[in-house]
Amino acid sequence: MPIVNMKDMLRHAHANRYAVPAFDLVSLDFLEGIMAAVEEMRSPVILSLAESHFEYYDFALIMAATVAAAKRATVPVAIHLDHGENLQSVIDGIRLGCNGVMVDASHHPFEENARITAEVVKTAHAVGVPVEGELGYVPGVEGEDAEKHPGEIRYTTPEEAARFVEQTGVDFLAVSIGTVHGRMKGEPKLDFDRLAAINERLGIPLVIHGGTGLSEEQYRQLIDNGVAKINYYTALADAAARRIAANVAEGAKGYTAQVKGVREAIAAECRRMIALWGSAGQAEAVLEAAEPWRTVAHVIFYNTEGLDEAQAKALRAEGREVLSRIPGVLSVETGTAIQPSAPKFRYLWDVRFCHPRVIDYYRDHPEHVRYADERFRPVAGERITIDFELDE
Ligand code: 13P
Repeated sequence: MPIVNMKDMLRHAHANRYAVPAFDLVSLDFLEGIMAAVEEMRSPVILSLAESHFEYYDFALIMAATVAAAKRATVPVAIHLDHGENLQSVIDGIRLGCNGVMVDASHHPFEENARITAEVVKTAHAVGVPVEGELGYVPGVEGEDAEKHPGEIRYTTPEEAARFVEQTGVDFLAVSIGTVHGRMKGEPKLDFDRLAAINERLGIPLVIHGGTGLSEEQYRQLIDNGVAKINYYTALADAAARRIAANVAEGAKGYTAQVKGVREAIAAECRRMIALWGSAGQAEAVLEAAEPWRTVAHVIFYNTEGLDEAQAKALRAEGREVLSRIPGVLSVETGTAIQPSAPKFRYLWDVRFCHPRVIDYYRDHPEHVRYADERFRPVAGERITIDFELDE
């Protein structure tokens, strides 16, 4: 199960001067194309799901496929919520399997950005998940022409960056030094002196958004100055669209004929970037250096006293509803023994946590305390509780 801690992964890249590709995916063709490229080139990868793209797919469904792809990978993978809008988005992303999250409050003034980001860090760290924040403003929209979204670039300053990291506790910082999201006319001018000063001051992995359309030399200089994660989407989307246009021009009719070869086109573009950014061949070293991402099964076997079957069922339904909302909980399953007389215990809770740190957080969470003290414990006399770290 080579899902790994994203903090360890990016620390390795930062220390060894390469950048992990953070490819945004919007369909199974993207997911399969990206995974084919990273497996072939033995590169670590961050599979990114941007909240700004949620109108194009069902986030829960695509996350199930993303987690499955990551689990069967042989290269290290992290799954990241890109441009999360608020704390609830982050909690939802973690529940569905993201083990790294970004909260993007960079359109707010400094203090508000810091307040929102710090709130997210507090919760995410309590359940073991690292956080990326953004300071300064990177205009544009992924996948679109940059000039259609002409917001003012606000550059990150080293002083503000240091204050932001101190105030929020973010693990990685996305900086604004001249890139924009989406397609640009001409080559962007990047402020490498500024980047070098930020890197010197912070010493944490830096992130570049708007990775599409830079020159080889620019990528090199970004990485030399502390960038360990490059977000990349528009060029993948354009490669896919070119493939479809070529299929149509050759007379392809119907969906499957028109999207034929899209996966391979995306994989080719990913390979090009992996070669440029130096992550090729780093998979084994990252697997060595990074903590494997181990989830936890919090299991309770119990019996109830003084409840009929209908009441016991209602109690479980209420628990599934309430407890699954607690940050860090991946799922809550309940069950009843198939053999009513044989086992010592008749009922089961199987609660999955995203990280061992959730064990204490969950135990003390007010919603759990209320449900456990007021609803569950008074009727669940006999029980046994065990936390299992799940094998890779
Ligand atoms: P591009 O679409 O310009 O590659 O930017 C991607 C990005 O920054 C996603 O967060």
